[in-house]
Amino acid sequence: MLTDKKVEEILKPFQDPYLHKSFEETGAIEEIKIKEDKNHVSVKLAIGNPNSKEQMQLQQEIVAALKKEGAATVGLRFTKLPDEVMAKYEGEAKKQQEASLLGGSSNTKFIAVASGKGGVGKSTVTVNLAVALARLGKKVGVIDADIYGFSVPDMMGIENRPQVRGEKIIPVERFGVQVISMGFFVEDNSPIIWRGPMLGKMLTSFFKEVEWGELDYLLLDLPPGTGDMALDVHAMLPSSKEVIVTTPHPTAAFVAARAGQMALQTDHEILGVVENMSYFESTLTGQKEYVFGQGGGDKLAEVLKTDLLGRLPLQQPYDEDDDFAPGVYQKDHPIGNIFLKIADKVIKKY
Ligand SMILES: Nc1ncnc2c1ncn2[C@@H]1O[C@H](COP(=O)(O)OP(=O)(O)O)[C@@H](O)[C@H]1O
Ligand SMILES: [Mg+2]
Repeated sequence: MLTDKKVEEILKPFQDPYLHKSFEETGAIEEIKIKEDKNHVSVKLAIGNPNSKEQMQLQQEIVAALKKEGAATVGLRFTKLPDEVMAKYEGEAKKQQEASLLGGSSNTKFIAVASGKGGVGKSTVTVNLAVALARLGKKVGVIDADIYGFSVPDMMGIENRPQVRGEKIIPVERFGVQVISMGFFVEDNSPIIWRGPMLGKMLTSFFKEVEWGELDYLLLDLPPGTGDMALDVHAMLPSSKEVIVTTPHPTAAFVAARAGQMALQTDHEILGVVENMSYFESTLTGQKEYVFGQGGGDKLAEVLKTDLLGRLPLQQPYDEDDDFAPGVYQKDHPIGNIFLKIADKVIKKY
C-alpha cells in the first residue's frame, strides 16, 4: 500500500525537464492524495514548462513509477512553478539548452543581428562586427541564418567550401572568423524554395552538425523582418542578445522598431542600435551629406531604451587585390575603426 511519504520519496528524484533540477530542489510536489479504497494516487506538480512535449514524457514516466510501486490508478495535474523558483534556475537552464545545441558545455555568447527590412546593412554589420571582435582577440563564429538571402560568403570573399570530418561540418575560417552559410550548400547560386519547418531544421543543423569549437561569440545574420525564423531563433537561443540595424531615415527606424519590439517580447535583450548609411563624407571637401535623412538611429535607440552603438557613413572598403573581400572594412579604414569601437562596446556590455 502506498503512503504519502512513499509517493514523495518516489517523486523527489525526478528531474524537471526544463530546469534540469530534481523535484526536491524545485519544490515541485504541491499535493499528494491517496484514495485507499481504490488505491488511487493523485499528485499535483509544479514544473518549469507545463503543457509541453516534455511534460507528456514526464507524465508517462511518473505514472509508470507509481504503478510499479503499487498504485492502481494515477491522476496527475501540472502547474507552473512560481516566479521566484523560475528566476533562481532559469538562467542556468537557458545556458544549458544552448550549450547542448552546440554539442557540449559552452560559454558562447549569442548575438543576433536583426533589421526591419532588407538592404539596410544587416549582413555588413554582422560580418564586420564579427571581424572586429576577432581583431580584438575574441574567438568568433558567424551563422548566415538569412537562408534565402545569404550573402556572407560573398562579402567575406570566401571561395572554399567547408570540410566534413566524421559526422561534423568544419566551418570555413576567414579573417579569424568561423563561418557557416546556406551559400556553402547550394549549387550555382540556385534559388532556395524551402519553407517553414525546413528553415528551422537548417538552422538547427548549423548548430548541431557544425564543429564550432570553443567560441566567445557566435553572431547570427537573421533574415530581415519579423517572420517565423526570428521566432525560431528565440526559441532555440533563449539568452541571445540582439543588435538592430537601421538607416537614418525616420520611416526606416519605425520599421526597425518592429524588429526591436519582437526581440523584447521574446525576452531578447537589445545590445544596441547601429545606424548605417548615416552620411556621405566628401573626400574632397570633408563635407557631410545626410543622403538618407537624419535621426533614425537615435530615435530607434530611444524607443527601444537602448544605446546607439555607432553610426556608419557610406563608403566602400579599400580595394585589395591579394585579400579580396568586398564587404569587409580594413582595420585602418574609417569604417573598420568604427567597427572596432562598436565591438569594444559590445564586449563591455556582454
Ligand atoms: N556603409 C555602407 N557604405 C557603402 N555600402 C554599404 C554600406 N552598408 C551596406 N552597404 C552595401 O549595401 C548593400 C546592402 O547591404 P547588406 O549588408 O547586404 O544589407 P542587408 O543584409 O540588410 O540586406 C550591400 O551591397 C552592401 O555592400
Ligand atoms: Mg543580408
